[in-house]
Amino acid sequence: MTQADDASQRAWPDFDPLEHVVSERRIERIDRILANRIASITAVFEDIYDPHNVAACMRTCEGYGLQDVHMVTQKHGYTTPSTITKSADQWLTAHQWENTKACVEALKADGFGIWVADLQAEATLDELPLEGKIALVVGNEAEGISAQMRELADKRYMLPMQGMVQSFNLSVALAISLQQIVPGKRAQLAGGDLSRDRQWQLRQRWLEYGVRHAKDVRQAYCDDPQP
Ligand SMILES: C[S@@+](CC[C@H](N)C(=O)[O-])C[C@H]1O[C@@H](n2cnc3c(N)ncnc32)[C@H](O)[C@@H]1O
Repeated sequence: MTQADDASQRAWPDFDPLEHVVSERRIERIDRILANRIASITAVFEDIYDPHNVAACMRTCEGYGLQDVHMVTQKHGYTTPSTITKSADQWLTAHQWENTKACVEALKADGFGIWVADLQAEATLDELPLEGKIALVVGNEAEGISAQMRELADKRYMLPMQGMVQSFNLSVALAISLQQIVPGKRAQLAGGDLSRDRQWQLRQRWLEYGVRHAKDVRQAYCDDPQP
């Protein structure tokens, strides 16, 4: 039995009244996805100015089963049109940072290594040992990675280009990077590694999506816990 299967079979701290109104199939899906969420890989979008690119990155991260993403908005604010994220942003935890230094310091304090996708790097991703918690950083459309991010990086890697164009779109670079590291990390973890507390908190929120008057349902249960 994998760690994820095991986690999904453990009891939640409490009964969620929304389980009365959400289909069993959807509850099972939510529980399975939460049990497989990866907290030890995250992505950082450094000063991306096109919200479509931010949205594409978010959708990619969600699809790979990451939970946290980080946005440095030193030069540009960000907005994520939900038509492009296909609502991926509602399933993610997005952290916004005023500048590169604050973002990197917080990630390092949380034990993350900063792995920067950088056209000027020499190493390729497969040359880097897949150890510890990893924050993958992509840079912006025009300037790429900032000098400061480059300085603060623990590792820098390039994705080999075989054609005439200089670079991949940043969301594509992120997807290629995730494809190279997520399967290996999943194999190491035998599933996901999001803490049970965080799973529980997210579960409560995720159960609310699609339930009209979720608060009222919860309140009604508190007033009269009999099914
Ligand atoms: C469109 S590229 C930026 C191009 C920019 N002119 C430059 O010189 O970096 C946006 C981001 O995607 C990532 N990226 C794109 N292609 C890459 C590659 N072949 N290797 C590594 N990173 C790449 C990098 O993080 C880059 O900062």
